Amino acid sequence: MTPKIHVSSSFITSGTKSQIMHLYFSFTDKKISGQLKTENEQYLNEKIKKEEFTGKETETLSIEFLKEGTLQRITLIGLGRSTKLTARVLKDRVGEVIRGLHTSKTDTVVIHANDGIKAVEDNSEAIGEGIILGDYVFEDFKAEESRKKINHVKNAYLLVSESNAIRAKKKVESAEKKSVAVLFARNMINTPASHLHPGTLVEKAQEIGKLSKGRVKVEVLDKKMCEKLGMGAFLGVAEGSERQPAFIVLRYEGKGSKKIALIGKSITFDSGGLSLKPSEAMMDMKIDMSGGAAVLGVFHYLATENPTVSFGEVFGILPACENMPSGKAIKPGDIVRAMNGKTIEVLNTDAEGRLTLADGLVYAEEQLKADYCFDLATLTGACMVALGNDLAGLFTNDEQFEKEYNKYATEAGDEYWRLPLYEGYAKQMKSDIADLKNIGGGRYGGAITAGLFLKAFVKKMKWIHIDIAGPAYRESEKGMLPKGASGWGVASIINFLEQFSAL
Ligand code: BES
Ligand code: ZN
Ligand code: ZN
Repeated sequence: MTPKIHVSSSFITSGTKSQIMHLYFSFTDKKISGQLKTENEQYLNEKIKKEEFTGKETETLSIEFLKEGTLQRITLIGLGRSTKLTARVLKDRVGEVIRGLHTSKTDTVVIHANDGIKAVEDNSEAIGEGIILGDYVFEDFKAEESRKKINHVKNAYLLVSESNAIRAKKKVESAEKKSVAVLFARNMINTPASHLHPGTLVEKAQEIGKLSKGRVKVEVLDKKMCEKLGMGAFLGVAEGSERQPAFIVLRYEGKGSKKIALIGKSITFDSGGLSLKPSEAMMDMKIDMSGGAAVLGVFHYLATENPTVSFGEVFGILPACENMPSGKAIKPGDIVRAMNGKTIEVLNTDAEGRLTLADGLVYAEEQLKADYCFDLATLTGACMVALGNDLAGLFTNDEQFEKEYNKYATEAGDEYWRLPLYEGYAKQMKSDIADLKNIGGGRYGGAITAGLFLKAFVKKMKWIHIDIAGPAYRESEKGMLPKGASGWGVASIINFLEQFSAL
């Protein structure tokens, strides 16, 4: 259960048995709100001084004191300079503090956003997201006993001024829907391949269709239909698995003429195929469907919130399959033909994502007539080497498109760095006997050569390719992000779809 968020202008404590934690915000340029000061001013000031708490973005201070015989527990959350506050910082800081309560007994938090600092109150959406995303733990496979050891906040009271309550309530509702969409993606990514395969993604897509009451249409192309369409690259990857592939297409109608496609790499397990990965590198490869999970997360939000978007149609595409070695598996040196007729020499079966995405891109542009396209993919280890765990690598053929997306990405907390589609490396992808080969020349620049490979399957559509191999699955927690699946891309793409109107 996610914490229930109540928006109100006052909170009455008397008679409750709850373990309450009061959260206040503090800035380097504006100390804590007047309201808090009056509770036990002298004690608080002494404590703040002693702990050298100055309200910086990195600082948190917990205080306990007796008030009228009951123990008061207060946490001050530093937010840096009030004039520089962003939704992103607020979401991260709240998320971090809520996650910290996993080892406490606190079941109720009261968030004092009605402290006269407009920046906080106006960002009630970010606070809502921070609460839900920060509370998240993946516990589907934990025994009841160990689940109980992790404390969850049950109720969060967000206190805002009376005049702001209605607006804040709306924002919190949309934060709830957005966060549930992020968690929907996180859960799928964290689920092992034993429990999540292409068929499961089909079920999840259909679940979204149902949730939407028909507003999200779901179509599943089976192996035969994909064969008919000439998706030789996608089907080549699927060949080695006992599990049937599924090419999943979702549609959502907006108001406008341009069409946008969201493609997510959906390899439910990447063993490497016959170019088998060493065991260490294979351990986390259940996450190779993080792009697809993000796309389903976005559609979960479209289904539950039903927002107006300025694209005529939003498509989601998940070319879903497993990459496995077997007697039927595609072999290094084999040649496959993609949907646009281009032939590809598959020299390394572990560079499979680009093959499934190639057919995804062609389908988006030629069948669905997409004008805009995002693809999200845990595509290369090289991108992780280049940018680490926090940043995705973004490639585009349209700078303006990237500029627009940038406005929403950083704010949402989906951070990336732009990398070049440097044409000088394109010749590395030329094959002696086919149109292309699926690996570059050497060990270097692997994220770029992968991007250039994909570019060969894009004609005119404005396209952003995001390599999320690094941030999709975290080795350590940070801000509102837990260890494990992050749900990278869900929040920023939702914000982009909802707010982008320059068409
Ligand atoms: N799924 C992997 C990339 C990956 C690695 C994602 C680590 C997340 C964490 C991808 O299919 C892959 O194996 N790429 C190869 C490409 C190479 C064979 C050209 C890689 O990065 O080593
Ligand atoms: Zn691979
Ligand atoms: Zn892969």
